[in-house]
Amino acid sequence: QHNTETLKPLLGKKALVTAGPTYEAIDPVRFIGNHSSGKMGYAIAEELNNLGAKVTLVSGPTSLQASEAINTIGVKSAQQMFEACDSHFDNADIIVMSAAVADYTPKEPANEKIKKKAEDFTIELKKTTDILGTLGQRKSSSQTLVGFALETNNELAHAQDKLERKNADFIVLNSMQDSGAGFGTDTNKVTILSRKSAAKNYDLKSKLEVAKDICKIVVEHQQSL
Ligand code: CTP
Ligand code: CA
Repeated sequence: QHNTETLKPLLGKKALVTAGPTYEAIDPVRFIGNHSSGKMGYAIAEELNNLGAKVTLVSGPTSLQASEAINTIGVKSAQQMFEACDSHFDNADIIVMSAAVADYTPKEPANEKIKKKAEDFTIELKKTTDILGTLGQRKSSSQTLVGFALETNNELAHAQDKLERKNADFIVLNSMQDSGAGFGTDTNKVTILSRKSAAKNYDLKSKLEVAKDICKIVVEHQQSL
């Protein structure tokens, strides 16, 4: 039976999703960035929208375009991403932070293009705000908070640590073990760690299918609250 409740279980819910890389300015023409394509986050935003949620997507620079129905806020730096998330967090029932946020940003970006001079050159960096970690501390009991983790060693232990430290309900761990998973690809192999139950391993599949798996868990969590 296909009533609205089963087809659109997130009707009336608001979601906040982050996606893509951040660009940290070195000078007016250069930045520190990463290879995140944004595909995973955009797929999650689309799926949450399909399930009936009102979605705000805070996106770093990508080549992707979200559906008209999704409120997309384009940002560049980690600081801009934090500010956009900070102002939408309290209103959101569901928060999924899949962006690959820079951990460090240049301390003093130059106002003019830096000229080539000495053989050695050092850029001083400072830590960015941990968006998930900071906003997670004010999570309410009606919110579902999902973070991501990419690890190369002690994967489960590091991901478990992130789950607790960032006060998330779920951490989606991207496996580096399998080729075809992670940055730039159309597929992902994930393990989803949960605060309340055992970790679940998923097969290698398209990012669209992974987004469906994540959103299914989000729906179940919202319905359990
Ligand atoms: N994250 C964030 N803000 C940051 C860094 C990370 O919101 N400044 C979020 C990411 O979007 C992701 C989660 O935190 O959902 C984990 O990111 P990750 O880089 O794996 O964790 P870090 O805490 O940055 O730890 P490390 O890079 O040292 O493993
Ligand atoms: Ca990091």
